[in-house]
Amino acid sequence: MPCTVVVGAQWGDEGKGKVVDALSADADVIARYQGGPNAGNSLVRGGETLVLHLGPSGILHPGKRCLIGNGVVVDLSRLREEVKRLESLGIEVRDRLGISPAAHLILPYHRVAEAVAESGPAAIGTTGRGIGFAYRDKAARTGLRLGDLSESGAFVAAVDRNLARLRREFPEAEALGGMSGASLLEELRDGARWVQAMLCDIAAELQVALRRARRVLLEGAQGTMLDLDHGTYPFVTSSSASAAGAPLGVGIGPRAVDRVLGVTKAYTTRVGLGPFPSEMPEESAEALREAGEEYGATTGRPRRCGWLDLPALRYASRVNGLDALVVTKLDVLDHFEEIRVAVDYECGGQRLEAGFPSGARALERVKPVWRSFPGWRESTRDVRRWEDLPVRARQYLEWIELECGVPIESVSVGAEREAEVRRR
Ligand code: IMP
Repeated sequence: MPCTVVVGAQWGDEGKGKVVDALSADADVIARYQGGPNAGNSLVRGGETLVLHLGPSGILHPGKRCLIGNGVVVDLSRLREEVKRLESLGIEVRDRLGISPAAHLILPYHRVAEAVAESGPAAIGTTGRGIGFAYRDKAARTGLRLGDLSESGAFVAAVDRNLARLRREFPEAEALGGMSGASLLEELRDGARWVQAMLCDIAAELQVALRRARRVLLEGAQGTMLDLDHGTYPFVTSSSASAAGAPLGVGIGPRAVDRVLGVTKAYTTRVGLGPFPSEMPEESAEALREAGEEYGATTGRPRRCGWLDLPALRYASRVNGLDALVVTKLDVLDHFEEIRVAVDYECGGQRLEAGFPSGARALERVKPVWRSFPGWRESTRDVRRWEDLPVRARQYLEWIELECGVPIESVSVGAEREAEVRRR
C-alpha cells in the first residue's frame, strides 16, 4: 500500500467510501484530496447508514489519522455538523482530523450564485452546494481559504470585493444584498475558532509519514468522468477527481504514489445532466434503481442508470493509470436475465475502438455497440470467495478485466463492510 490512491472510474457514486473504509483497517493515514460536500459516501456501521460528505471515509476506524487536503473545498458549517454527528455516535474525530489551511472555503454567496446560474440555460444539474463557484474563486485568485479566517480585516475586505462583483454579475440575486464581509465573518466566528486547532501542514505531515513507511490512502470524490479536465466537459465537477489530482490535492510529489485503485460499479449511474451513452430506457432503469437504491446520497435525486460502459472504463483505466479495479454492487445484477455492456462506440457508422470523444458534444453523437451476457440469476450476497461466485458472474468479471487490461482485486456484494469477495 505505502501510498494508494482510490479513484472513481465512472461518474461518481461507485462506492469508493466503502472501499476506503475497508482499506483503512490497514492504513495509517487517510486523506481526501478534492471535491467538497457534493460528495456523499454512505457507510454502513452496525446496521446503521452514515453519510459522510467531507470527512475521509477512514474516519470510522478509531485512532486513524484523517486529513482534508488543500484540494478540497470546505463548507465549515457542514463540516461541523458532520463531526458533531460522528461524535454523538461515540466516534472521536477532532483529535485526529487535520485540515489544510490552504483548503478553500465555500461561502454562502457561492451557493446563491450557483442557484442563479443553475436556473438558466447553462444548467448542468449540480448538487447545489456552491462547489463550482468556490473553485471559480480559487482559480480567479479571489477565493478565501481556511487559513484566512484568522486575518479578520483582510477577510472582510476580500468578501466585500467578491460580493460587489457578484452583485454586478447577478443583479437578480436578492440574497446577495443582505450579505457583507462583516456579517459573514460574524456568522463564521464560532466555526473559525472551532476549526483552528485542526489546521496543520498536512503536506509536511504526509511526507514524514511516507518517509517512515506509514501506509497512506488518498481518497478521491466524484469520478474520472466528472473530472474537470478529463470528464465530459462541461458536465463535470470543478476539481481534479482523477488520480493525478491526488498528489496535487494533498501537497506531495506524484512519485510518492505507489498504486492507483479504480472503483467501478458492475453497471453505470450518473446524476445530473450530460451525455451518458450506455443509459437505459426508463422502464429498465427503474428496476436497477430500485435494486441498487440508486438515489443521490447528497441530494436524494434519482440517479440515471445504465449498463456498464467499457469505452469509458477503458478510458478511466488509461487516464488514471489504474493498477487494479474494485467492482462494486455486483449483487444488484443478481436477478437480471440479461446483462448488457456497451463494448464500443460507433459514430457515423465507424467504430471508435481507440481513443475517447473529447467533451460532451462529441460524446452525445456516439451510439453504443452492445454485447449481451446471460445473467447468473442467483444471489451473490453471501459469497466471500472468488471461486464461490456463480460461473457466469465470474465470466462477466474476467471479461471486464481482460477488456480493460486491469486486474480486478475485489468485488463488493452488499453495503455492509464484510460483504466483499477478495481475490487472492
Ligand atoms: P457539482 O460538483 O455540485 O458542481 O456538480 C457538477 C456535476 O457533478 C453534477 O452533474 C453533479 O450531479 C455531479 N456530482 C457532483 N458530486 C457528485 C457525486 O459525489 N456523485 C455523483 N455525481 C456528482
